[in-house]
Amino acid sequence: MCGIVGYTGVQNGAPILLEGLKKLEYRGYDSAGIAVIQDRTIHIQKVTGRIANLCEKTQDGLLTPGCTGIGHTRWATHGAPTDTNAHPHASNDGRFAVVHNGIIENYVELRRELTEKGYHFESETDTEVIVHLVEHYYHGDFQKAVMKTANRLQGSYALGIICADEPGRVFVVREASPLILGVGIGENFFASDVTAMVAYTRNVIYLEDGEFAELTANAIRVFDCAGREIPKQINRITWDIQAAEKGGYDHFMLKEIMEQPRAAKATITPRIQSGQIQLDDLDLDFGNVRRILITACGSAYYAGCAGKYTIEKLCRIPVQMELASELRYADPLVDEHTLLIVLSQSGETADTIAAMKECRRRGAKVLAIVNVVGSTIAKLADYVLYTWAGPEIAVATTKGYTTQLLVLYLFALYTAKKLNTIEETEYCRLVSCLKALPKQMQQVLDMNPAIPRLAKKYHQAYSMFFIGRNTDYAVALEGALKMKEISYIHAESYAAGELKHGTIALIHEMQPVIALCCNESVTEKTMSNIIEVKTRGAEVLAVAHRENQKIVSLADDMIYVPKVDPLLCACVEIIPLQMLAYHVAKENGCDIDKPMNLAKSVTVE
Ligand code: AGP
Repeated sequence: MCGIVGYTGVQNGAPILLEGLKKLEYRGYDSAGIAVIQDRTIHIQKVTGRIANLCEKTQDGLLTPGCTGIGHTRWATHGAPTDTNAHPHASNDGRFAVVHNGIIENYVELRRELTEKGYHFESETDTEVIVHLVEHYYHGDFQKAVMKTANRLQGSYALGIICADEPGRVFVVREASPLILGVGIGENFFASDVTAMVAYTRNVIYLEDGEFAELTANAIRVFDCAGREIPKQINRITWDIQAAEKGGYDHFMLKEIMEQPRAAKATITPRIQSGQIQLDDLDLDFGNVRRILITACGSAYYAGCAGKYTIEKLCRIPVQMELASELRYADPLVDEHTLLIVLSQSGETADTIAAMKECRRRGAKVLAIVNVVGSTIAKLADYVLYTWAGPEIAVATTKGYTTQLLVLYLFALYTAKKLNTIEETEYCRLVSCLKALPKQMQQVLDMNPAIPRLAKKYHQAYSMFFIGRNTDYAVALEGALKMKEISYIHAESYAAGELKHGTIALIHEMQPVIALCCNESVTEKTMSNIIEVKTRGAEVLAVAHRENQKIVSLADDMIYVPKVDPLLCACVEIIPLQMLAYHVAKENGCDIDKPMNLAKSVTVE
């Protein structure tokens, strides 16, 4: 929920830290700070608000010279977003500074203990206990003090720690929060995410939980929790740096919406050879699978909701959906015949990780569908299918969601073939439909120039309903979430047939209804629901393909999508809803890439 970054080398560190923090700002953006060592003194600068304020305060880092430093961008959990609660936090003697991403669960006990020992606390954060513990355990050996401190902490933490007495040395510790080391020449880095370092190095080391490392300008040494040095592999980042930049678009979200056809191609094409789906990483005994359980959070969960229909229809295996935050405490009925599918863009979502661990403990095999290579979820799973969407920066996911859907489609067809639940002709037909999707995703982007105009018409709505049936309903869930999270307009997603069981009471002239009508197997039924809401005065914006003249004549406004097989249509149908949410948010002057109260990667419970 926060972003951390660190540098040690020969360059002026602060500008590098600030650039890195800008790349990590999607992880949290209510306050930020840096600490740099100069002349054996730690200089700390902190601000409330965005990194831009920190750049201004430090004159882009020029006011804080020094070749070793750490930085932090915060999403507040313990203590309000104020200058005082912002990281880095310093020890009472000023010798140490720490940045932290995660939550220290036993901080109340530690705070009491340290207060009794005479330590003085400046902030309300859980983090501050860490830096006082380091001071407490320091008797001339920095490494020992870090190790002893880590042994006292419970919870999740990625830490960066500097010591004024040892200006070229940085210690980092990882436990259940992302942390990656960047290997440079004469300089080394750490960050929560590679985007913060890729401008300087493409060589990275992934730390595992329980490991800690020492960074100096010329070396990186990694240790296990007992302090034994361990060898680590250096991995090469291959994606283009431009992939993490805005590339001329006003917002990352728009850029990422536009990238979907390309991302879809990257996800699908290498996995279809001579008309056959190849999932080489999925060496699973399908005969042993009696049920599938899908778990995730937010949009990733909604991708699962849409994928469930396709998997059940093609594979004839029962698929159950569970929100990860519920599943982890549900005492789930899971055994060795359960295949757990975990969906996550970041691969670092705390609830998803916990649910996954719980199900694994009970015997389930885990297939992770993830975007970030080397992420915690990817590492914990038995099987991994990457979504290959490239870095996603906007808090609201777009290409992350659609590529998750595409992998679920690939999985459904691949599994159906393995289980013999699909006729060869139907398999071949659906594989060619799948191959056509990137082009159809491009068509939907090209065929709706009216969306900005529709956004002007609907942007003042106080609330909206998104309705649909079957896969259209699953898309309604995600469409409504997109609208809520970036435009702050209340949006309710509803199974169209359920309206009359209560919520139709809320329908009136001021309550626009977005009706999703792309799944041909149920559009006739949804049309009767459109008539019901129109009778109560609601304006209806329908999403359908052009040939469906009945809907065109019923709806007040139309968004068109190409005709796609109902089993695969969700990934095309969602795109105009992403665009609509984007343009509504733009009309309302919202901070689209960094919506209030949110963060990209929810690494705390
Ligand atoms: C979607 O726009 C949200 N940002 C959010 O719901 C997100 O999908 C959820 O937090 C799960 O994240 P993950 O895919 O990285 O696990």
